[in-house]
Order: sequence, then C-alpha cells, then structure tokens
Amino acid sequence: MKSLIATLAVLALNPAQAAPIAMEDQSQLKVPAMQAAPQFTPPAEDQLPDNAFGKMVREGHALFVDTRRLMPEAVGNGLNCSNCHLDQGRLAFSAPLWGAYPMYPAYRKKNDKVNTFAERIQGCFQFSMNGTPPAADSPQMTALSVYAYWLSTQAPIGVETPGRGYPEVPQPKGGYDFARGQQVYREHCAICHGDQGEGQQVAGEYVMPPLWGKDSYNWGAGMHRINTAASFIKYNMPLGRPGSLTDQQAWDVAAWVNRHERPQDPRLVEGSVEKTRVKFHANDGVNLYGQTVDGVVIGQGM
Ligand code: HEC
Ligand code: HEC
Repeated sequence: MKSLIATLAVLALNPAQAAPIAMEDQSQLKVPAMQAAPQFTPPAEDQLPDNAFGKMVREGHALFVDTRRLMPEAVGNGLNCSNCHLDQGRLAFSAPLWGAYPMYPAYRKKNDKVNTFAERIQGCFQFSMNGTPPAADSPQMTALSVYAYWLSTQAPIGVETPGRGYPEVPQPKGGYDFARGQQVYREHCAICHGDQGEGQQVAGEYVMPPLWGKDSYNWGAGMHRINTAASFIKYNMPLGRPGSLTDQQAWDVAAWVNRHERPQDPRLVEGSVEKTRVKFHANDGVNLYGQTVDGVVIGQGM
C-alpha cells in the first residue's frame, strides 16, 4: 500500500516536472493581462485573529507601509515598501506579497543562489530602499515575513498565482525615446512626483514618493531596469488610472525616469562604473547604467 501511494505521488508530480516553474526575477515572468481578474483574494483585515500571531501580522503591516519612519536604520532613501507594492502589498500586478511568499525559496540570477523569502526582502532593503537590510532572524524581518505569510492564506505553494509580479510589457519595435518620455512625464506624472522627480513632502515626510535623486531607489534596484519600470508603470501608474498609458508611453516615460541620477549601486566594483556595468548590468534587462547619453556617463550615483 505504501509503495502504491508513493507511485501515485510520483505520477502526480510528473506534470509539474514537465512544465517547469519559473524561478527567475518576476520581470521575466509572463502573467495574464490585467483584464483577466485574478482569482486570489488575500484575507481581509477583520479576519485577523486577536492573538500573538495577529499582533505580529499587524506589526509587519506597519513596517511595510511606514518603513522609513519605523526602520530609519535600515532605510537609506525616502521610500516605504508599499510605495512600489501598492495597496499595502495586496494589489495584483503590483508585485503583491501573496504572489511572492509561496514562491520562495527560489533561485535568483541576481545573486546566483537560492534565496529564502527573508533574503529576497533583504534585496529590496539593499537596493529599492537603498539601505542596510535587517538580519534574517531580526524581529522586523519576522514581522514582515509573517505579514506576507498571512496575506498568502490559502494561496497555492510553488505555483505562479495570477497577479504575481507585473505583466511583461514588450519593448515597442522602435525602442524608446527620451523626448517623448519627458512629454509623457510632464503630462501624466509631474503633478504628483514633481517637475524634477523629487516627489512631494509635507513636514519632512514624503506624501508623494521621489522617482530619481538621492531619496529614490538606487542603481542596483529592479526598478532601474527600463523594462521592469515600464511594466510597473503601465499596470500601476498614473495612480488611480492604471492601464491608461500605451506600451510605448510606458517605455518612453520609464526610460526618462531611469536616465536620471540616483544613489550608486552598492555593489560598485573597485570604484568603477564601467566594471560595475560589465559585472552587474550588461545582462540585466534593458538599462542605462554605465551608458553614455548626451555625452554624459549615466550611473555615477550621488
Ligand atoms: C522602488 C520600488 C520598490 C520598493 C520601495 C520595494 N520594492 Fe520590493 N520589489 C520591487 C521590484 C521592482 C521587484 C521585482 C524585482 C525584480 O524584478 O528584480 C520587487 C520584488 C519584491 C519581492 C519578490 C516578489 C516576487 O513575486 O517574487 C518581495 C517579497 C518584495 N519586493 C518585498 C519588498 C519589501 C518588504 C520592501 C520594503 C522593505 C520592498 N519590497 C520595497 C520594487 C520595490
Ligand atoms: C495622482 C498622483 C500620481 C500620479 C499622477 C502618478 N503617480 Fe506614481 N505614485 C504615486 C503615489 C502616491 C505612489 C506611491 C503609491 C503608494 O504608496 O500607495 C506612486 C508610486 C510610483 C512609483 C514607485 C515608487 C517610486 O517612487 O519609485 C513609480 C516608479 C511611479 N509612481 C511612477 C509614475 C509615473 C512614471 C507616472 C506618470 C506616468 C506616475 N507615477 C503618475 C502618485 C502618482
């Protein structure tokens, strides 16, 4: 009987082996268009149990939406996690936590090893938050992981849940254009993110996040790739009107945003932008790091 069950288990696993699970950065994943409603709904806040676990979920939620204020030692820019993972990490096609948590541990080309979920979050602290990641066994990391775990309640494990990451927006045939991107920026983005991508502050706190400059994501962040930013922008921006830009507009404005200076890639090789480009950026999607635009080398940091 035991061996029969074992045989059935092997048979059941076979289809999964025939269709390998994508373990790359989500920018390369193909997920259905946003029109196809995602099937997964994370639990509502009032379903939280009133116990030690529920308390931890609340702590993780607070850290996720108020990262900069609650973890100043770990955050080196003006951002919170929820600025890029919209609706508190719940929104489909905005790299939701419930799409991420069940997919780890996973191999990442970025650091060429199998990453735990905590290591994946540490990556966003180092690059997207331009900061110093908390230790994997720190109370904050546990709280963030518990929040993601709870949002993933009843999600399948090790299977791409529709809505994970961002749908890929293919590069338009004619590529992208900075002048057109600047125009899109002026018309659709500057009102919130500022003429110089500086965001907006009230009493020293950002109420609109910066898109470039010293308080933005650094040159090692996933968002510095034009393809990744185009996908995020197409499916999430302008805030309140997702999907309103054409693919061409999303690429043009992503290129415009990502041709501006931002904090240096913390992996900088021997102080050299060129060496860093060759090692980390030459095969990392579409990006401008280390390239010369209008006679100026991009990626010098600030
Ligand atoms: C500047 C935008 C930005 C910020 C801020 C940011 N992230 Fe991310 N995050 C991304 C992008 C882009 C990706 C996709 C990574 C890639 O393609 O390299 C990602 C991926 C992830 C993933 C993996 C998603 C998956 O489906 O595998 C997790 C988990 C995550 N981020 C958590 C966090 C946490 C926690 C914070 C705050 C400490 C944070 N992120 C802050 C942009 C951001
Ligand atoms: C109505 C105001 C508004 C408009 C218009 C708008 N955004 Fe945003 N954007 C936001 C807010 C607010 C966030 C953070 C979302 C959150 O915290 O829930 C954000 C987040 C972002 C982020 C990720 C966080 C960061 O700072 O890097 C990017 C990139 C971005 N927007 C790009 C754009 C682009 C490009 C446009 C124009 C096509 C645009 N936005 C238009 C309000 C806006």
